[in-house]
Amino acid sequence: MSATVCQYHPEVNNNDDDDYSEIQLYKQMGGQLPIINNLQDLINQLRVIFESDNVNIELVNYVMNSYKSNPLDWKKYAKFDRYRYTRNLVDTGNGKYNLIALCWGEGHGSSIHDHSNSHCFMKILQGSLDEIKFAWPKEKGQQLEEIERKKIELNQVAYMNDSLGLHRVENSSNVDTAISLHLYCPPYNKCKVFNQNTGQTSSSTVTFYSTFGKRIKENKEIIEPEDN
Ligand SMILES: [Fe+2]
Repeated sequence: MSATVCQYHPEVNNNDDDDYSEIQLYKQMGGQLPIINNLQDLINQLRVIFESDNVNIELVNYVMNSYKSNPLDWKKYAKFDRYRYTRNLVDTGNGKYNLIALCWGEGHGSSIHDHSNSHCFMKILQGSLDEIKFAWPKEKGQQLEEIERKKIELNQVAYMNDSLGLHRVENSSNVDTAISLHLYCPPYNKCKVFNQNTGQTSSSTVTFYSTFGKRIKENKEIIEPEDN
């Protein structure tokens, strides 16, 4: 399936027993599926997959699912802020996608947002996250309609694109932090955020708290990580 048209509607592979699509993929790949033992394997495989102009999105989903979270792999990206969740750039995939670790403190959540016509995969590396989906607003001034609510647990992968609606993600735990690994393809630096009560939109710029394990400030000054 092409990554250029954002109409992918997967049977979300949150269940290990969802064998059917894996068998189909196995046949499609000529009996060879990548083996992912650690985060570096995942990064390397994603780079290989995205070398193609016609990216196999099912294969992206497969490798994201295959990786089993190990804190030793990602602790250098795990940088938290007391007040809001942080985005920490892991890899830019030769400009074709962004791989980002999002670190959620207790009770932290996102605003309701779209995905700028990109694919979004979200894998849980630590803790769990709630995803609340909304329909696109039909009329101005209308409250956004909630259409789905689910918890995404450790190592599960959720998928989202604009044809599936809008969503908000939150760490509803009062005691545990959460970390998620997001793949956005193509990468984007602006998205729309929505007011739940009025449907009103505004533009939001995607910023990074750290890149490649190094903390950055607004003025681009690189400083030492504050916490890991
Ligand atoms: Fe999102």
